[in-house]
Amino acid sequence: MSVSPWLACAVLSVFCVLQVSSLDTFVAAVYEHAVILPSDTSLPVSHSEALALMNRNLDLLEGAIESAAKQGAHIIVTPEDGIYGVQFTRDTIYPYLEDIPDPQVNWIPCDNANRFGYTPVQERLSCLAKNNSIYVVANMGDKKPCNTSDPQCPPDGRFQYNTNVVFDSLGKLVARYHKQNLFMGEEQFNAPTEPELVTFNTPFGKFGIFTCFDILFHDPAVTLVTKLQVDTILFPTAWMDVLPHLAAIEFHSAWAMGMGVNFLAANIHSPLRRMTGSGIYAPNSPKAFHYDRKTNEGKLVLAKLESHPGRSVVNWTSYASSIEVPSTGNEEFQSVVFFDEFTFVELKGISGNHTVCQNDLCCHLSYQMSEKRADEVYALGAFDGLHTVEGQYHLQICTLLKCKTTDLRTCGSSVDMASTRFEMFSLSGTFGTQYVFPEVLLSEVKLAPGEFQVSSDGRLFSLKPTSGPVLTVTLFGRVYEKDWVSGASSDLITHWLMVIVMIITPIVHYLC
Ligand SMILES: *[C@@H]1O[C@H](CO)[C@@H](O)[C@H](O)[C@H]1NC(C)=O
Ligand SMILES: *[C@@H]1O[C@H](CO)[C@@H](O)[C@H](O)[C@H]1NC(C)=O
Ligand SMILES: *[C@@H]1O[C@H](CO)[C@@H](O)[C@H](O)[C@H]1NC(C)=O
Ligand SMILES: *[C@@H]1O[C@H](CO)[C@@H](O)[C@H](O)[C@H]1NC(C)=O
Repeated sequence: MSVSPWLACAVLSVFCVLQVSSLDTFVAAVYEHAVILPSDTSLPVSHSEALALMNRNLDLLEGAIESAAKQGAHIIVTPEDGIYGVQFTRDTIYPYLEDIPDPQVNWIPCDNANRFGYTPVQERLSCLAKNNSIYVVANMGDKKPCNTSDPQCPPDGRFQYNTNVVFDSLGKLVARYHKQNLFMGEEQFNAPTEPELVTFNTPFGKFGIFTCFDILFHDPAVTLVTKLQVDTILFPTAWMDVLPHLAAIEFHSAWAMGMGVNFLAANIHSPLRRMTGSGIYAPNSPKAFHYDRKTNEGKLVLAKLESHPGRSVVNWTSYASSIEVPSTGNEEFQSVVFFDEFTFVELKGISGNHTVCQNDLCCHLSYQMSEKRADEVYALGAFDGLHTVEGQYHLQICTLLKCKTTDLRTCGSSVDMASTRFEMFSLSGTFGTQYVFPEVLLSEVKLAPGEFQVSSDGRLFSLKPTSGPVLTVTLFGRVYEKDWVSGASSDLITHWLMVIVMIITPIVHYLC
């Protein structure tokens, strides 16, 4: 309950108290949508063909929105590219785009359809929100004509944006966000010149919004939480899993915990492209999630959340820096995790305490396995450096992971099955950042809600024996300020070597 409007209102009139009453909790919904794709995205289609395809997707979204509203949801998030799919050129996406005005114009498209030209998709989304009295979050394309004599203006005379829109429960457009951090291959879209910090208030908290690849960068994602103090992030995404550290449900739930916000992630459902994993995550624990590599069906997920979850402060280096680095004489080895060379030590015993360091980062682990199997190898790894493949970002990572095989050179390769449960673990690191995202992922890509916690001195530790075999326990740190200042030449060589490796090896990458 927000105090000041309540008091002000109570003084003015007893009647308005009901209208301003805010909610302590709300019901959130996310819809993992099996998007219907155009048959060919290399050739342009007419606008009416584009609209017909979008309406087929909107028919499915409509079912999810109605169902969510009937079950009491206050807000529903649908995925990035959920209305027309992925992989267009600038020209072939064009018939799918609408001019989306700045929400300051105060517009309910459902009531006033043609105020900003022909905008059938916005009208339909607005009516879905209004008819069902629910906030609707969707992702679509925005087009803005520009003057080609302006050097910023693309040669075809228009900006095209990957855009999230939000309609409130009256159908009013309340938010428009243009994706900042486009993923490689998203050439059909432009990034805005400045990151857009888009927020809006509701009776159930303050919301911020961004899209997919944005989650790996400081702006707008981190600024929305630290400066603008939002309670809940809305996150349409088209996310392809990359194990061990970047599976959708794993990384998105970790970001919610590390940043201390609610996080509503709606992913595309496309098992063939390894796209699945949507969820509703509170800072203390995932509340509901969906991961399905077997069926081709979409899925609606609902959960109740606190409107103002509140954040606890963690010093991510406090515990680890109090530990003396033992000279245990463990044999270290190097192995590659998603193109980054980690330093590892093997966990040879059924229990133990290990330390491994790389550059400025030392990682400490205490653990006890339920059994020490001969057919499985686990290792503790550290990485402190610039990741340069499919995006440039500086990482500090401490990770306990299952190696793909008993060959140590496979430590860090994608693996989604394991057999070893852990009785306990406690992982910490001497991080040079306050942005650390704690991940625990179990066999068959499952989360472990309620099974672990983070202490204020920066330990990620188990509360009970794990409910399933462990794939990884990880502290994924981001050092944003080092993204563009690393020793350029050697990194550049590494980068091009990795690009070559990428081209010649059939590894599945993630697309966002
Ligand atoms: C919303 O309701 C109106 C009238 O009840 C109806 O005409 C319209 O088709 C509905 N629109 C949607 C998108 O459900
Ligand atoms: C584009 O800009 C140029 C130079 O400022 C101006 O002469 C021209 O009229 C503009 N064109 C349009 C369509 O606004
Ligand atoms: C975190 O803990 C370390 C070690 O105890 C201390 O030196 C540092 O000042 C702390 N950082 C913050 C931001 O409190
Ligand atoms: C690991 O360290 C803890 C205390 O930090 C100690 O109680 C425990 O006995 C150690 N375990 C092993 C196997 O050395």
